[in-house]
Amino acid sequence: MMWLTLFYSCTGVAALLYILYRWVIPTAVQHHGGLALIWHVIIVEWIMDTLTQSTRPQRILSAVQKNATRGDPRSVIRAIDQFCSQKEWAMNVGNEKGCILDSVVSEVNPATVLELGTYCGYSTVRIASLLPPYAKFITLEFNPDFAAVARQVIAWAGLEDKVQLVEGASSDWIPKIKEQFGIKTFDLVFLDHWKEHYLSDTKLMEECGLLRKGSVLLADNVICPGAPDYVEYVRSSPRYKSHYFRSHLEYTKAEDGLEKSVFLE
Ligand SMILES: C[S@@+](CC[C@H](N)C(=O)[O-])C[C@H]1O[C@@H](n2cnc3c(N)ncnc32)[C@H](O)[C@@H]1O
Repeated sequence: MMWLTLFYSCTGVAALLYILYRWVIPTAVQHHGGLALIWHVIIVEWIMDTLTQSTRPQRILSAVQKNATRGDPRSVIRAIDQFCSQKEWAMNVGNEKGCILDSVVSEVNPATVLELGTYCGYSTVRIASLLPPYAKFITLEFNPDFAAVARQVIAWAGLEDKVQLVEGASSDWIPKIKEQFGIKTFDLVFLDHWKEHYLSDTKLMEECGLLRKGSVLLADNVICPGAPDYVEYVRSSPRYKSHYFRSHLEYTKAEDGLEKSVFLE
């Protein structure tokens, strides 16, 4: 009798954990951005890193090498989106917001682009594949392990000649960009690094004269995790004309969006 009770208890607990893992948690994190970040970035990433003895960017790179065609940027994007929607979430801009990013890049048709935050090179590949041959594109990443993966992803897409990946912190590089890379101003800046740096780096770009009349700033994740001080600044400053593109946090149904701000002076 005691064994039977133990058996039923264990089966009940196992079934409960399975339901939680298969349905309850996935449904909750699909609709709640904060929960999604805690679940995917803290819990699942730690579990997967421990189990596989590799990092998430390395697993993304393996998915690219296995499923994407060399020299075909769209297949690289597809391979990453497939991996991140079916296997493991990751902090790429993702396909839904990526389509908005593509349309802004095509509309601006920039000759000079700065990206803040490369991670594995997903958005870098999206942007670079749309640029005219003469364009100058700099992407900044301060994590050397992410930068190493991004270099390989960009090379797999065949875009290594169209992108200059620079390692280091944005606040260190922004004041040196003009001198080091011979760039006067940027036509387009994609802000997608840690959200607390959006505002200070924007003010730094203004001070360093990297923005001209008509320069476009496109900022990701303005809702989730959110960059309220930046959004307040670009929406209230007479120096910008700002527009919010409503969308969803990458690979989820939780609200997130991009803020496009045109520098007016
Ligand atoms: C959200 S991820 C970028 C995702 C990428 N843009 C994409 O869509 O594929 C943010 C990245 O910014 C980098 N980062 C954060 N703060 C930074 C800073 N101040 N300077 C340079 N890189 C930074 C992080 O290491 C991380 O790889």
